Amino acid sequence: MEWWRCLFVGIVLLMATGSGEAQLSPNFYQSSCPNVESIVRQAIQQKLSQTSVTVAATLRLFFHDCFIEGCDASIMVASPKHDTERDAPDNLSLAGDGFDTIEKAKEAVEAQCPGVVSCADILAIAARDVVVLSGGPSFIVELGRRDGLISQAGRVPGKLPGPDFDLKLLAWIFGKNNLTLLDMIALSGAHTLGFSHCSRFAKRLYSFAPSLPVDPSLNPRYAQQLMHACPQNVDPNIVVGMDPFTPNTFDNVYFKNLVNGRGLFTSDEVLFTNPLSRPVVSNFAANQGNFFKAFASAMVRLGRVGVKTGNEGEIRRDCTAFNGS
Ligand code: HEM
Repeated sequence: MEWWRCLFVGIVLLMATGSGEAQLSPNFYQSSCPNVESIVRQAIQQKLSQTSVTVAATLRLFFHDCFIEGCDASIMVASPKHDTERDAPDNLSLAGDGFDTIEKAKEAVEAQCPGVVSCADILAIAARDVVVLSGGPSFIVELGRRDGLISQAGRVPGKLPGPDFDLKLLAWIFGKNNLTLLDMIALSGAHTLGFSHCSRFAKRLYSFAPSLPVDPSLNPRYAQQLMHACPQNVDPNIVVGMDPFTPNTFDNVYFKNLVNGRGLFTSDEVLFTNPLSRPVVSNFAANQGNFFKAFASAMVRLGRVGVKTGNEGEIRRDCTAFNGS
């Protein structure tokens, strides 16, 4: 090919692929570890047979990992100095079973394909698998992420959404990660699974405003139930199901709850109270298929956030430690 033609083709390819993210591919391990997905799936199933906490813990771990340094398993790194990402206050409520799930899956993968599959990819596959195993939609996971070389507690503040965020803040923080309002609403549907500590929503029950202790957007019966489960000065370890009806099933009940004033956090309830997002919530509440489609596509987009590919980062041997350490 003449040089200018090469250059032209090169430029077109560059424009089509854009940055890092498009280098991911579902077939990345086709020749180097063709069974990676079934190995991970088996490890997850085994862990799930020991504890149902596995599902919510793993899904949340993936989300936090992606929002901090990109989906690079930096959340997994542990240090005796307790100064890595997982030690940051925003991550202390990540359930230990999520970390354990990924470590177990990595051990199983290493036994068959040593030094080939990144912890970041294992976490992405595991997050999909727990959704499927709890009744949610399946989707193809793009692969080829490399593991990050930075994991610092000090870099976490400001990167994760808080339960008191309003719609504008939520849209902003997801937007910073290339995710749309629709992605954000769909991904919030993950709160159909798992548990929350009372402290995360106590303000809505006891000190919403000086003359109005209970948040008026809460369904009064739900508020009563929450006060019963979480009295003032309750043991800080007490948790409640975020979806009080089906906390272990991935379904659209979360959105039905929002329509009925049963959103646990302000960041949940605003999705229904704000007219900008309400039509989507109503749609997901009425049509589980639409929610599943939007969730699957948002998970793929979440999995592209800040990924390292090619020669960037490393393939960690042990997910909890950098290779050099
Ligand atoms: C939209 C903004 C979000 C906010 C403000 C938020 C906040 C929270 C908070 C405060 C908890 C309770 C933690 C505790 O007290 O233990 C929680 C739990 C959880 N979050 Fe989110 N989250 C958000 C989005 C997401 C997304 C996008 C996902 C996953 C795709 C997710 C998955 C989960 C899961 C599965 C749990 C339950 C964890 C467990 O039971 O161990 N969250 N979230």
